[in-house]
Amino acid sequence: MKKTILVTGGLGYIGSHTVVELQESNYDVVVIDNLSNSISEVAEKITSITQIPVKLYIGDITDESSLKTLFEQETIGGVIHFAAHKAVGESVQKPFKYYRNNIDGMITLQKVMHQHHVKTIVFSSSCTVYGDTKHSPIAETHPVTEAISPYGTTKLVCEQILKELCRYSGFKGIILRYFNPVGAHPSTCIGELPLGVPDNLVPYITQTAAGIREKLTVFGNDYNTADGTNIRDYIHVVDLARAHVKALDYALSMNQDCEIFNLGTGTGHSVLEVIQAFEQTSGISLPYVIGARRTGDVEQIWADATKAVQILNWTPQYNLHDMMDSAWKWQVALSQNNQKRASKPA
Ligand code: NAD
Ligand code: WQD
Repeated sequence: MKKTILVTGGLGYIGSHTVVELQESNYDVVVIDNLSNSISEVAEKITSITQIPVKLYIGDITDESSLKTLFEQETIGGVIHFAAHKAVGESVQKPFKYYRNNIDGMITLQKVMHQHHVKTIVFSSSCTVYGDTKHSPIAETHPVTEAISPYGTTKLVCEQILKELCRYSGFKGIILRYFNPVGAHPSTCIGELPLGVPDNLVPYITQTAAGIREKLTVFGNDYNTADGTNIRDYIHVVDLARAHVKALDYALSMNQDCEIFNLGTGTGHSVLEVIQAFEQTSGISLPYVIGARRTGDVEQIWADATKAVQILNWTPQYNLHDMMDSAWKWQVALSQNNQKRASKPA
């Protein structure tokens, strides 16, 4: 019989891509999302890819009674937990918003899971838990450090809570530490929907190329790297989504335990390399200037993802050019949809 998986935050960027992969891997999916950073139309877009309806609960995971209702109505076999706020800069301005949503959400979810004897959970963490590292690639055994933002604190605290529940309360947990997720589904039906001015590099690049932003500012070219710009491990969101299905399969098959996996390609790229890859795939010359360093930026970090490759049998399929190509096609589709909406009579 098919297992039903609850995906919290399943209408968001990574969640929506994961719902597609779960449905295509023969899981039934139930989504809970409060639409704080997504729109309900994403459910229809997912269905347009998979031809399978998405069972959607519009609700907040910090609300225990909504979660209880969901767990009473559905036979949940496991959970993939994405729902969280994720803007590092905003978390510095509004720390309580982050502690409340991300930590409270995790605790409430796990309490209701516990009450309903659902013990399998895959949790979205981040390479931010490694802090300002000096030597890449970084393996899961690398010590985590004091967080550099309230957002990072929420990931560290949630990791710790999950580890304890696995140790003492029978949970089976997988912690996935993502590096830099980018790109979009090849259908161009789903992708990232940044609200306002994007903080992240790739949406800023695509919005600049689309004429929404005047120019990109590269945050510093005086780092100790080959071209002076920061190095990151960019990972295609579809590869990331597929890793969640593998992680879930693994979690369902393991005994009480907690495992941590890095998810990255294992290759670092500088900001200038990303710009160059974008220009090559899109054929567009990107207006950019070199600016000051951004406070809090780590100089260079990329993953040692050997553990995920060996244990989850997961290998990323997409390279940097594929990532830029899909990100650009998604931006073009978004701009066309916005134009269509704007030209419709009110
Ligand atoms: P996203 O904002 O696109 O998706 C999160 C979804 O959760 C949104 O649809 C939002 O409406 C929903 N949500 C938030 N709080 C909720 C709540 N209390 N109840 C119900 N729904 C709620 O973010 P994303 O990029 O898809 O990130 C997913 C997860 O991965 C997050 O936990 C994030 O911290 C983590 N992560 C993201 C990145 C990244 O660069 N995108 C990197 C590392 C880790
Ligand atoms: C990438 C590189 C910037 C924008 C963040 C979070 C991290 C994780 C992933 C959630 C950096 C440079 C960027 C711009 C630039 N999220 N840049 N001009 O900072 O590696 O990670 O997202 O867990 O926790 O901190 O990603 O995309 O913001 O930046 O030059 O306009 O691009 O300096 O070197 P980052 P990013």
